[in-house]
Amino acid sequence: MTSEFAVEMRDVVKRFVTPEGHEIAAVDHVTMQIKNGEFFSMLGSSGCGKTTSLRMIAGFEWPSEGEVFIEGRPMGHTPPFQRKVNTVFQSYALFQHMTVYQNVAFGLEMEGADKSEIDKRVKRALEMVQLTGMERRRPRQLSGGQQQRVAVARALVKTPDVLLLDEPLGALDLKLRKEMQLELKALQQQLGITFIYVTHDQEEALTMSDRIAVMSKGRVQQLATPVEIYERPVNKFVADFIGESNFFEGRIKSISKDEAVAHIPALNTELKGLPMSRDFVKGEDVAISVRPEKIRIVENKTKGDGLFMAKVLTSVYIGSDTHVYLDLEGIRLKIMEQNRISRLDPSSFYSKDQVVTLMFMPENTLILKKD
Ligand SMILES: Nc1ncnc2c1ncn2[C@@H]1O[C@H](COP(=O)(O)OP(=O)(O)OP(=O)(O)O)[C@@H](O)[C@H]1O
Ligand SMILES: [Mg+2]
Repeated sequence: MTSEFAVEMRDVVKRFVTPEGHEIAAVDHVTMQIKNGEFFSMLGSSGCGKTTSLRMIAGFEWPSEGEVFIEGRPMGHTPPFQRKVNTVFQSYALFQHMTVYQNVAFGLEMEGADKSEIDKRVKRALEMVQLTGMERRRPRQLSGGQQQRVAVARALVKTPDVLLLDEPLGALDLKLRKEMQLELKALQQQLGITFIYVTHDQEEALTMSDRIAVMSKGRVQQLATPVEIYERPVNKFVADFIGESNFFEGRIKSISKDEAVAHIPALNTELKGLPMSRDFVKGEDVAISVRPEKIRIVENKTKGDGLFMAKVLTSVYIGSDTHVYLDLEGIRLKIMEQNRISRLDPSSFYSKDQVVTLMFMPENTLILKKD
């Protein structure tokens, strides 16, 4: 391979004029570099520009500005069939009147490959997605998950270097989706090809990806590993979109090397020793964020550094965890506690209006850009 990157989008803009006559930037100065062999996801809510980005990589759409590179080569107006990428579309778009075998063979037949070559490759592709034995069925004689696998086999049969997958599991129920997530991930690792995967499901992206681009309104908000995105979101949008967060308004009081002191007016307090991963300035208004599982309810009944008294609003038992909603100086907080000990006694659970002590650990308390 000629380039470290399988695919690169360099400062890509895509503008559309809508039928209503408005010009919109569906993709707005997006830059991302996708490494060879990587499982890369684009994650964002409906309309944020995921499909449009994928279509530009595939060649079904051309950028208004910027450039798409595949293996280091600028694609310009190269048509889809001349790109070493293949797409599994948002709707699987299987041919209903054809058998599984014919669906998978179709692309190769169009290319004029010879019959024995086609047969070998179709069988191999069906084996990869564990559909051997179902060659003669038609799509409607398959479950949703099996149809999805036909769509993957159809894309894999052409041995692309890069597979583009647009919400391929969207139509499946939760349990099957989770199984297919692990299967697709295993397949990707086994084949060693690059997957560019589009989803609006954050858990799916966290489960499967080596790296994720979190998108909003046509822009990339953060591009990082799942751990970095969850533990060190770059701004309030990402912290809110990925997982759950409690937010406070704050202001930076002082900064030393990689730690800061933040004042939180609503709590009339300062939080010290907060990690700083970005360039903030003294006096800056910021969002302070703490994940629900990272606040602890402790026995200690005194106030002190990082300790706060709060009142329980409700406590919800959900089996594996208990979700406790609290009032802290008028701010509503959510805390999640794992139910590590099996117990039935009602008095062992939090009750409404109970006053508890919360502990915020500095390393779990993040300073974020407000937007
Ligand atoms: N051909 C088009 N003409 C005009 N507007 C378009 C066109 N294609 C997409 N758009 C608009 O561009 C924006 C991004 O669309 P896109 O399909 O990329 O979103 P998405 O992130 O894939 O969303 P979803 O999760 O719903 O599939 C949307 O506002 C959409 O309405
Ligand atoms: Mg889409």
